[in-house]
Amino acid sequence: MVGVCHRNEGALISGGFPDLGAPSFLLPPRIFEIEAVSADRNLPDVAFRRAILLIAKSAFAAAPHLQMQRLADLVTAFQPGTVVRFAFTEQGTPSLREALSALLDENLDGIVIVPLVLPMEPSFHIWLTKSLKRWKSSEERQWPALSIARDIASSALMMPLIRNLLETQEEIDVSLGRASIAEGSLVPPQKRRVLVCAGGACNSAGADVIWNHLRNQQERRKLRVTGDGTMTAKSTCLGPCNLAPVLQVFPEGTYYGGVNEEAVDRIITRHLLDGHVVEDFAYYPTGRKQRLRAPPKQN
Ligand code: FES
Repeated sequence: MVGVCHRNEGALISGGFPDLGAPSFLLPPRIFEIEAVSADRNLPDVAFRRAILLIAKSAFAAAPHLQMQRLADLVTAFQPGTVVRFAFTEQGTPSLREALSALLDENLDGIVIVPLVLPMEPSFHIWLTKSLKRWKSSEERQWPALSIARDIASSALMMPLIRNLLETQEEIDVSLGRASIAEGSLVPPQKRRVLVCAGGACNSAGADVIWNHLRNQQERRKLRVTGDGTMTAKSTCLGPCNLAPVLQVFPEGTYYGGVNEEAVDRIITRHLLDGHVVEDFAYYPTGRKQRLRAPPKQN
């Protein structure tokens, strides 16, 4: 079935999709652009393979990952034959880049990105377009046509959705009991901190891999209680996004860019435990824009 392009209409359009009572707000009008392209080319429907990529911002625990999986399953149920995946733009696995990369192997004609982000920053589209161009420039594989659905807040179904949510309200128990009395906290003695950037660019460049490796090594090498003691944390954007993936070591505040697992190992041995900056991956404030240097040659 070929859909009709209604991109200028703000109201819900369900033409081209079977009505299974599914949440059509996931599929705002611009999605139809791809089907219109199919019709223009006079291709049989079966020849046009597309994927829907649901994207959210962050997820730290298993439950929100499961929530995204359930949404993807729901979309699959009313879009049989369509590849449906999800990804995260900041913290969470898979990152947007990982999910896109996996889709490139699926021999698709089009990918529709559906941002499940509320509210959506005005810079989101600029960031997304820049990132996609950057990834594409470093790819040898053929890219399918990309399109993006409108943001959730612009959906004509927002009010019915909020009305529906209001019907699910439950009282919150705020009565004070013993469990609500604060117990107090220890102030950590560790002098070193490693911040691993989990902003959009770094997440897409593999921040999760860096974070997991660092946490594994922290445990294995007992970094919390060795030397000056090191604590680690994820952060939002640390600034030099074009040097992604980025981490910063305190108390010196040294920036490291283009970090990989080998770099993490060297930073642990040389910087965290011995106090010396690993110059191969270090970047200093110069007042000028900097690009990633070529990775150092292995011995
Ligand atoms: S996203 Fe990591 S430095 Fe900006």
